[in-house]
Amino acid sequence: MPSANAKSLRTRRHPLIITIDGPAGVGKSTVAKLLATQLGLQYLDTGATYRALAYTALMRGIDPSDERHLVPLARSLQLTLHWSATKGLAVMLNGRDVSRQIRTEQVTEAAAIVAHHPRVRAALVRLQRRLAGDRYLVVEGRDTGSVVFPHAPYKFFLTANATVRATRRHMELAQLHGRTPSVTVIAKQLRERDQRDRIRKAGPLVKPPGAVAVDTSRMQAAEVVQQMLQHLALPARRPSRQGRTCGPDCQ
Ligand code: C5P
Repeated sequence: MPSANAKSLRTRRHPLIITIDGPAGVGKSTVAKLLATQLGLQYLDTGATYRALAYTALMRGIDPSDERHLVPLARSLQLTLHWSATKGLAVMLNGRDVSRQIRTEQVTEAAAIVAHHPRVRAALVRLQRRLAGDRYLVVEGRDTGSVVFPHAPYKFFLTANATVRATRRHMELAQLHGRTPSVTVIAKQLRERDQRDRIRKAGPLVKPPGAVAVDTSRMQAAEVVQQMLQHLALPARRPSRQGRTCGPDCQ
């Protein structure tokens, strides 16, 4: 992985993109947001696009396994993501804030199913690239370093052991919704989702070639970010006051 400095940032022909991939519960979102904040970069959560599509499908009574009906929905999804280091990520669907609604267990399950369809993925990968525009950003997901931004100069692949991942997810859900399934139930759900993510034909969960692997099992998010910064050797910048990741119609 190359290192960069302020000069190489200015002369870079392609936008600076740092990809972070890995299975559910490894801490991708926390780490990606921290890294984006420290470097003053935008943040793009590709999982939010699968969740927004799954949510829309459920609202319209479309079966998440019905690729034929999902494809036009994915192509016409009116989604914008607004990221701010202070306010967090706002997921706007047709101008309505659905940030909480897309994090329910029902949507989580449906998102893993819609993500299986190759033509749905192709539409959402196009959307993700549009959302990225030509910004400097940290992007997280399952295939961001392998499919969405294969030419990204910096790639990371996070891992963590199964118990740690289930415990983290349990705490995250408790914070978000109050009620949450047990760690054992979550561990089983994660195993199933991981398996689905790994074996699918389009955009499977893989460590992209050249990505730096980081095992986060015994590390706090801040320590993971420190380790990443050492690999990047980028100068930290002050976070922008209002970082935004917008769709094509976002000013
Ligand atoms: O990361 P998150 O849990 O929000 O992602 C929701 C679902 O979207 C995951 O279960 C995964 O199957 C899918 N996903 C994907 N490719 C990505 C991001 C997420 O398949 N780049």
